[in-house]
Amino acid sequence: MRVAVVGAGPVGVASAVTAALGGHDVAVVEQRDDRRSCLAEGHLPFHEEALEHAWKALGSSVALRASLRDAESADLVVCCVGTPSLSDGSSDLSQVEGVATEMAGLPPAVFVVRSTVPPGTGTRLGVQLAATGHGYAAHPEFLQEGRALQDSVHPSRIVVGADEPWIHQRVFALYPGLSSPRLAVDIPTAELIKVAANAHLAMRISFINEMAVVAEHFGADIEVVAKGLGMDPRIGPSFLRAGLGYGGSCFPKDVRGLTALSRAVGSELRLLRAVIEVNLQQPVRLVDRLMTRLGSLRDRRVAIWGVAFKPGTDDVRESQAVRVAELLLERGARVVVHDPVVCAPGGLPPHVTWADGAIPALNGADAVVLATEWPEYRTVDPVTAVARMNGMHPLVVDGRNALCEREWVRAGADYQGMGRSQATTQPLGVGV
Ligand code: UGA
Repeated sequence: MRVAVVGAGPVGVASAVTAALGGHDVAVVEQRDDRRSCLAEGHLPFHEEALEHAWKALGSSVALRASLRDAESADLVVCCVGTPSLSDGSSDLSQVEGVATEMAGLPPAVFVVRSTVPPGTGTRLGVQLAATGHGYAAHPEFLQEGRALQDSVHPSRIVVGADEPWIHQRVFALYPGLSSPRLAVDIPTAELIKVAANAHLAMRISFINEMAVVAEHFGADIEVVAKGLGMDPRIGPSFLRAGLGYGGSCFPKDVRGLTALSRAVGSELRLLRAVIEVNLQQPVRLVDRLMTRLGSLRDRRVAIWGVAFKPGTDDVRESQAVRVAELLLERGARVVVHDPVVCAPGGLPPHVTWADGAIPALNGADAVVLATEWPEYRTVDPVTAVARMNGMHPLVVDGRNALCEREWVRAGADYQGMGRSQATTQPLGVGV
């Protein structure tokens, strides 16, 4: 098939690579010149290692175009443009609508929406596109940043929402030879599967973070609690890591987007509101902890390890690390940040100082906050780190429960985890 993929973000590039590997004739349509030049040189305009290798390996077999009109007429137009939040929490669909409008004058094709949109969007756009001879499919993606290629070529499931069986079949034909389960459903069902999946995962994170508050109070260890919970096959172990909470371009936006549908559906979506509330509270709780241990934060030097919203990406959108930096600055602290991959100040408050290494970030620091669990922070020698910091027992707040508590305590640090009992000296799960 001839496939035009619109939007060269992680979802667009992963979809294009997967379609090309499936033997299709693929063009990537990206309006930004800088992104097209970057792609033409074999690089991605974002950090995604495995996907970059796969892109490079495809060489010039994938065409790059500035608009849909410049692309060869396509069988499938795969829409992977952004749907950011508006100020009321609802999704800004203008980019998706723009691509749909651009299709009006083009030969008949199927408009395949991979962008995350609220339920109801496809039914409306489908009617508009049918009037100009196009089909419509809702085909949500379930890619995690940092593993976009893996999730794209081995999807957990392939969900296609459409009104007619031939449209389901045409979209499934994108994936010849893939054994992933396939689900042919109607359009609103496909849309809701996507946003409900993200809302469910976000709910698990807020749930475990709420349990961490209880664990701290009673001296329980949330890491072991999560392990014990996850052993129940009805619960499972994933997305139960307590910490600073969720960030990124998907969970915060999608949970807000669903909540914003309360009025449309005529019922307050209370559970989702609570999920958001708990998540907003996590950076505040962490900074309150620093206040409790240090007293005033005025002119205290605090290092933040990790700025990306999670390891494996350079994405700082809605990163909880950024919120921590803002709160610390508001309370008068001097903030030094380090991240192994993020080095541009975009998205961070202007008054932070950047360090060029994990250890240099600690020079004279009263406290360090681990905000993103990059593997390199686990390998930092606690004795060297503590020696660089200020005071006999400098504060180490492990916002992701990623460091070895015993080693840091032994090195003299005042180690504080999230929902972790100070008394824990055994390795996780041993003797429990
Ligand atoms: C998420 C979903 O996991 C993907 O399935 C989905 O396709 C994607 O959104 C999307 O809608 O496009 P992503 O935003 O890349 O993927 O990130 P996740 O790996 O899910 O992590 C999200 C946030 O939750 C991170 O800030 C992470 O640190 C946090 N998290 C995750 C926790 O705090 N605890 C956990 O146990 C897991």
